Amino acid sequence: MTPDQMKRAAAEAVLPFVKSGMKLGLGTGSTARHFVDCVGDLVKQGYDLVCVPTSEETRKQAEGLGIPLTTLDKEQILDLTVDGADELDDKLNLIKGGGGALLREKIVASSSRQMIVIADASKHVKTLGAFPLPIEVVRFGARATAFKIERCFTHLKMKGAMTVRVRDGKAFVTDNGNFIIDCALGEIPDPAKLQSYLAGIPGVVDHGLFVGLAKMAFLGTPKGVVTISHE
Ligand code: 5RP
Repeated sequence: MTPDQMKRAAAEAVLPFVKSGMKLGLGTGSTARHFVDCVGDLVKQGYDLVCVPTSEETRKQAEGLGIPLTTLDKEQILDLTVDGADELDDKLNLIKGGGGALLREKIVASSSRQMIVIADASKHVKTLGAFPLPIEVVRFGARATAFKIERCFTHLKMKGAMTVRVRDGKAFVTDNGNFIIDCALGEIPDPAKLQSYLAGIPGVVDHGLFVGLAKMAFLGTPKGVVTISHE
């Protein structure tokens, strides 16, 4: 089974949770893309669904599939958000933002009654942090913000390379007009503590730690789909 087939299987495992009449959040990335394709099929079958995309990329895919879209300004509470992750641990703490969509992904997930994560098994880790933590910062004063982030890591006895994300030779700019700093920390022993420190730094818009947002994950493995659930 290829990683892509495992992603597809994880996406399909969520379908029994999708009921006609629901308002859905649509994630971003190569795994979420499979789920969006499945939602497109459900809409063609006559399901009454309305969705909020978490990125311009997902918006384009959904529009191409004829999925009815709405916004969080019209619908403040969604029934279910389905999204991928760069890493997840047993408690369903996540690192997200590898695709640069972490801010909208977090706003949409936190506006949903339920968030289900879909991933291939390689994303399941004992401790978060091997994947560099993306931190979204305002462009104004980005270096000063990076300095404060580094000071925060030092205070928490963490360290690692901090790199401004680059795409096509230029600093990557998110859908919200911000930069991303990828922080290779190695291990994040206490994601909740780190998130509360990062939240206090002016210039930090958000970060890829999702703590307490997901209650269920479907992992595609070579032997089938494994469920992790956490109440
Ligand atoms: C985008 C994300 C993605 O969910 C994450 O990067 C996983 O992507 P993929 O399914 O392609 O591995 O957080 O910002």
